[in-house]
This record gives sequence, structure tokens and C-alpha cells, in this order.
Amino acid sequence: MGSSRNVAVFGAYGHTGRFVVAELRERGYVPLLLGRDQDKLLALVEAHPGLEARQASVDDPASLRALNGAAAVINCAGPFATTAAPLVEAALRAGIPYVDVAAEIEANVDTFAHFAERARAAGTVVVPAMAFYGGLGDLLVTTAMGDWTAADEAHIAYGLSSWHPTAGTLAAGAVSGQRRGGRRVRYTGGRLEYHDDALPTLEWPFPAPLGPQSVIGEFTMADVVTVPSHLAVPEVRTYMTAKAAADLSAPDASAPTAVDERGRSAQTFVVDVLVRSGGTERRVAATGRDIYAISAPLAVEAVDRILTGRTRTTGVASAGAVFDAPDFLQALSSHLSLHVPLDTRG
Ligand SMILES: NC(=O)c1ccc[n+]([C@@H]2O[C@H](COP(=O)([O-])OP(=O)(O)OC[C@H]3O[C@@H](n4cnc5c(N)ncnc54)[C@H](OP(=O)(O)O)[C@@H]3O)[C@@H](O)[C@H]2O)c1
Repeated sequence: MGSSRNVAVFGAYGHTGRFVVAELRERGYVPLLLGRDQDKLLALVEAHPGLEARQASVDDPASLRALNGAAAVINCAGPFATTAAPLVEAALRAGIPYVDVAAEIEANVDTFAHFAERARAAGTVVVPAMAFYGGLGDLLVTTAMGDWTAADEAHIAYGLSSWHPTAGTLAAGAVSGQRRGGRRVRYTGGRLEYHDDALPTLEWPFPAPLGPQSVIGEFTMADVVTVPSHLAVPEVRTYMTAKAAADLSAPDASAPTAVDERGRSAQTFVVDVLVRSGGTERRVAATGRDIYAISAPLAVEAVDRILTGRTRTTGVASAGAVFDAPDFLQALSSHLSLHVPLDTRG
């Protein structure tokens, strides 16, 4: 028999999966460790004695019955172009909610397109991109919007001090690049547009202490799927500090290194959000440490709210649609600092 405290983590031994497992334990949940590699699962159990591990592969749908007994599943195994659909299928079969950390625009679009009706009919919730990219930006945009239901533009600027990508990030980027045939993507006129234009470099006025930074414009992230999924905003733009973008594409890009007892790297971030409607602007920003580590409290807070009935909708939905966005961000105050400029309140 399962318990409402059992939460399956698929890809549990990956870099992000490990943060998610630790966060679940810290919050009193019992992670059920899932992945395709038995040796890696056993090594993870050594670090977490007493936890159950089950081998499961997306290539073998029957093995995904390993979800049985869990109250929810968090999918941390990317590329999600490969793992999301089989895991959502398995979650729907098991009748449990599904949350993933996918930062792949096309895979996130597919999750909305393929599972919206079935998830709604099942009365369950499927939340793609419930992580730093996609989820956090959507919560911030939804918070900045306040009582607005529509806006002309939403801008999400990522002020990363550096970006040491994991193998999973690089693999996900390569898969997305292949799916686009090497083209670039932006969200304009209320839809995704594929193009070959060079990306602009501009200066973004991050709040102090970071201040103005050179950023790559149209560095398009999963927020272009999550935000328009529930807010009427025809122009959604995302920006990345030029230094972090260069780190990511460097031929010798190296994985993050832990510098504290929680395993977090020294990377810091500011996510600065600006929404504009008519002549009025509203802003909100969040600062924190390590984009992989912060994805764990985001995903686990989502699961906690789902399992305790603090949701606003069913079906496939992004963070800002499912949860009370300002309340959600407030609940993460030990991980994230929020900044609301006085001159753009209200
Ligand atoms: N939205 C965000 O902000 C955000 C944040 C964090 C992570 N992510 C995404 O999450 C994914 C994982 O990132 P990571 O940092 O944890 O990378 P990682 O340390 O390289 O881990 C990747 C994990 O995915 C598993 N995996 C890959 N392909 C699989 C498949 N076909 N079947 C089963 N498992 C598979 C790997 O298992 P094996 O070792 O067995 O291959 C490993 O557990 C990436 O796609 C990344 O982009 C997104």
C-alpha cells in the first residue's frame, strides 16, 4: 500500500534529482528512488539508507508500474523529449499527479498538447517545467501581473553570475536544437516563431546590487510556454546575461561544483520580471543561489501543495495557473528573496 508521504523521483540519481530527494526528505516526504541504472540507484541508496529504489525505464512501459504506491511523481530525467510522455502516461495510469523540471520548449508544448484533455478528465494535475526555468519565471510574471489578466508584454531577464551546465542540460539543449533543425525560437504575436536571425545583445537594468548587465535578447527559455499557457500576453521575451550564455556554449563547459554543505554551487541568480500594459509597468525580481538546487524546493513545494489540495485547476497547467503565485513564492522565502520596487507597486 502506498502512503500520501511517498513521492517517486524519476532520475533520482541525477544532479537535480539528488537535490529533489534531499528536499523531499527535509520536508518529511519519503522519496521512492527511480531510474534506469541499477548501480546508480544502489549508490544513491547508500547515501540514503532505508529508502526504496526501483529500476524503471521509459523504454519498458511495464517497468513504470514502479510508480505504484507513490502519491505523486517528480520527473527529473532529461532530455524530456524522451522521458516526459512515458512518465505522464504512467502517472495517469497510476492516477497520481505529475510534476517535471523540463526546460525544453518543444517537450513542454507536447505535454500540454498531448495530455491536457486526459489529465483534466482524470481530475489530476500535470505540471511541466516546475523548476528554475519555466516555473519560477511564470510565478514571478503571475505575481507581477497582480490583478491584470492581460498585458502587452512580459520580459524575464536571467542575471546568472555564471552557468556551469550539467550533462543533462547540455543533452536537453542538443535535443531541442535538433528538433528545431538548428533554428532559433521566440514567442511573438501570441505564438512560437522559428527564425534564423542573429540574437541581439543589449543592456538589462537588473536591480542593485547586480545593476546593468550585458544580456543576450531572445535567449528563449521555457517561460514562453508556461506564461502564455494561462495569461493573455502576446509578447514574452527572455534574456540571459552574456557571460552565462558564453559559459553554456563554451567548448570546455564544466559541470557545477558544490561549495556548501547542501551541495550548492557558488552560482547566484537574479530573475528580473517586467510586465507592461498600456503605459504602465509592473516589476518583481527574485534572487537566490544555484539554478539546479533551487529547482528542488520549487518542485517539492508544488507537490506539497497538490497533495494538500492547495491547487486552482486540474489538467496540464503551469505553476502560475495551478498555485497562488505570491503565496507560493512567499513559502520559499528561505531559498529566494523577492524584490518589489516601490515605484511599480499596485
Ligand atoms: N527547468 C529548469 O530550470 C531545470 C532545472 C534543473 C534541471 N533541468 C533539466 O533536468 C534534466 C536533468 O538535469 P540534471 O541537472 O539532473 O542532469 P544530470 O545530472 O545529467 O542527470 C540527468 C538524469 O536524467 C537521466 N536520464 C537521461 N535520459 C534518460 C532516459 N532516457 N531514461 C531515464 N533516465 C534518463 C539520467 O540517468 P542516467 O545516468 O541513467 O543516464 C540522470 O539521472 C535536464 O534536462 C535539465 O535541463 C531543468
